[in-house]
Amino acid sequence: KEIVVSGIRSTGFLHLGNYFGAIRNYIRMQEDYNCYFFVADWHSLTTHPDPKDLRGNVYRVLAENIASGLDPEKVALYAQSDVPEIAELYLLLNMLAYKGELEKVPTFKDKVRLQPQNVNAGLLTYPVLMSADILVHRAVKVPVGKDQEQHLEMARNFAQRFNARYGELFPEPVAFNFGDNLVRIQSLDGTGKMSKSENEMATLYLNDTDELIRKKIMKAKTDSGPAELGAPMPDSVTNLFTLMQLVTAPEVVKSFENAYQDQSIRYGDMKKQLAEDMVNFMAPIREKAQALQQDPAYLQKILKTGAEKARASAAQTLQAARKLIGINYY
Ligand code: TYM
Repeated sequence: KEIVVSGIRSTGFLHLGNYFGAIRNYIRMQEDYNCYFFVADWHSLTTHPDPKDLRGNVYRVLAENIASGLDPEKVALYAQSDVPEIAELYLLLNMLAYKGELEKVPTFKDKVRLQPQNVNAGLLTYPVLMSADILVHRAVKVPVGKDQEQHLEMARNFAQRFNARYGELFPEPVAFNFGDNLVRIQSLDGTGKMSKSENEMATLYLNDTDELIRKKIMKAKTDSGPAELGAPMPDSVTNLFTLMQLVTAPEVVKSFENAYQDQSIRYGDMKKQLAEDMVNFMAPIREKAQALQQDPAYLQKILKTGAEKARASAAQTLQAARKLIGINYY
């Protein structure tokens, strides 16, 4: 079976972008691949979260993944910080990562702009830690959304560099999505990608109540209908159709697409349909995730079992890496 790795940072609440960019692929891959999925709690430390929030944040991400359909019996589900081999590989890869290339990474440049008071070395070397997450299991496929494409390219570079210098150890991992393109869900106000920290009314969180889901969708940005027949669809409307394709029956989507084409569309009706289908899709996930969070003993058991599986795999890689580098004294 091919090896698959992916992670989600434990900052804030998971949203539909995380679901459709990442988690949906995890669920589809769990049968046919050897999967390692983790909560990226070390990655969350770049913004110095309050220590008393960490446990709840990790449990929530774990619960939301399981509630979405991940089966802890089929995949290794673990917390990044439970696998110290990742930190060791991160140290080794840092020797092959250059300041110049790290400073050029768009997500780093964004952070410098957004949090100029806290441009720490962890932020700069974020792509190195992410590469260690992936390479530690010698993964070949990494299910992620479009925003992670560049990071995957760096992981391939580091793998190549290691192999060239010390000998063949790492395959070159690729970003993966079922379907042709990597997914990018836009925010409901049409201002950019849906994200944890953006405008809360423009983001659909997996734990939003039915009422809130309806309210957010009814407020989503649209236009006043196509100005002339055949005019290109504005991004905000395209995004509503994208969301609709994910949760609404195909023939119903088709009828709204036809209505758009012949200019008879009523966005109010379209949003009502989308809101109801979205509620039906999201409510069971929310309820299951909430129930799971009432059972910390169960979540702890999953974390422990997952960490054991992940460490067994990671230890083998590190043993081989140390030997290739020459750290081999006894
Ligand atoms: P994070 O925690 O920001 O997001 C988790 C996953 O959700 C995807 N995603 C989206 N997909 C489509 N549309 C959106 N609007 C959207 N927003 C988020 C992300 O692409 C991601 O797949 N660096 C990673 C976490 C990470 C990781 C790894 C991933 C750490 N180590 C190793 C894979 C492999 C991150 O910040 O994702």
